[in-house]
Amino acid sequence: MQISETGQTQGGCPIDHNAISLADATMADPVLRAHPNAYYEALRREDPVHFDDKLNMWLVSRYEDVVTVLRDPITFSDKLGYEAMYASGYFEEFKQILDRDGGGFFPDVIKDDPPAHTRVRRLLEKAFTAHRVATLEPAITETIVGFIEKLADRAQDGTVVDGVNDFAVPLTISVICEQLGIGQFNAEKIQRWSGAVTAQISKMQDREAMIENAKLICELQHFIIQEMKDREANPREDMISDLVHAKTDDGGTLTFAEAVSLVRAMIIAGNDTTATAIGNLLFVLATQPEVAETLRASVDDERALNRFVEELLRLEPPVRGLAKMTIEEVELGGTKLPKHAHVLVLYASGNDDETKFECPRHFDHTRRNIAQHVAFGVGVHRCVGASLARMEIKVAACEIIKRWDNIKLAIPVEELTYLPTVATRSLERLPMTLSRRA
Ligand code: HEM
Repeated sequence: MQISETGQTQGGCPIDHNAISLADATMADPVLRAHPNAYYEALRREDPVHFDDKLNMWLVSRYEDVVTVLRDPITFSDKLGYEAMYASGYFEEFKQILDRDGGGFFPDVIKDDPPAHTRVRRLLEKAFTAHRVATLEPAITETIVGFIEKLADRAQDGTVVDGVNDFAVPLTISVICEQLGIGQFNAEKIQRWSGAVTAQISKMQDREAMIENAKLICELQHFIIQEMKDREANPREDMISDLVHAKTDDGGTLTFAEAVSLVRAMIIAGNDTTATAIGNLLFVLATQPEVAETLRASVDDERALNRFVEELLRLEPPVRGLAKMTIEEVELGGTKLPKHAHVLVLYASGNDDETKFECPRHFDHTRRNIAQHVAFGVGVHRCVGASLARMEIKVAACEIIKRWDNIKLAIPVEELTYLPTVATRSLERLPMTLSRRA
């Protein structure tokens, strides 16, 4: 299917009313997932709570409805939505593989519903207070500058580099491993493990891929268990030690299974989405020179830099859609949803809603309601690592624009490909050239 994302303009804003017919479009289509904005627009306009029969899910596309779902975690269960997504219909077989070869099956406790969720959520929040994140900034800046300089060396003489796999991914893996206290790690392995975990909520995994991914998750779990055992014997100043020895608000401790699931969540959530965000940053800088100029003009202005990061997250949100499930019949945006309706909350479409954000496809870091984007979600499940992610993106943006020039795509934009998943919109690779700033 050919989808144009621009078309005619209205008041200077791209609109494209006739490009998509909802009847034959589906999020299962990789071309649509790669260029989804015209589809989101059609959904919001024609059928804001739309049943995608290929996906077997309800797509929630309007900003207002996205927020309604996220603010009601009881009616729209995160736990049930996540479980129904997990392992792509092969859950029992997946669980058996993990029980047999992976040290156990450890359900994701952070994806529980309140009140069980609240108990573990409070623990994680302590690790990501604004104060703690601020104290990490100098060390993280040093790590990021190291990656920026290394890539500038490699890109000398016009050599093509990959902004995703040579830069964004190893950089974010390095930062989260530092936080967790994982000294020895193989970034490529962690990237493969992350891909295996996130594939479970991709909706695009067949049985063969599920089995391969389950094997990788077994490896990941053995790695985590080893790290945890080490901290049980020798506690240190790091996040794995904090989780292994954590006391919950009720004075209790985490079970072993809960701690494994939280360390796993930190490794995966800590690198996957942030790497996507930094890949998106490079994409925008390479394709929109005026945005690169805005960033260049903002490097000495902390407030402007923060606004730049928010607008980047609004315009190119790494997380596209996550699942929830209704626990009873409920009306949403004029549509009656049955009990156990599997819902895909389209954060990306919420961020693109023209009734909320004027000229939504336009990068405008001065927009008045910039903080109201939903790239990190809303409500009790709102991203717990948002302050760390924001800081990483801000530091990367600032140091890149200070040190690199002439950032350009090395292939036509139409040849860029995205990971096969409905959950995120992540570039698979970003071939680019750059030079060192004089
Ligand atoms: C730009 C980077 C990131 C983006 C866009 C992002 C986005 C999100 C979103 C949309 C959610 C789900 C909210 C919901 O259910 O409605 C979420 C949850 C979560 N994120 Fe992030 N995230 C990012 C970085 C991080 C980092 C760096 C960490 C940790 C180191 C992290 C840890 C988590 C965890 C643990 C949850 C589950 C929270 C809960 O259910 O209570 N994320 N994130």
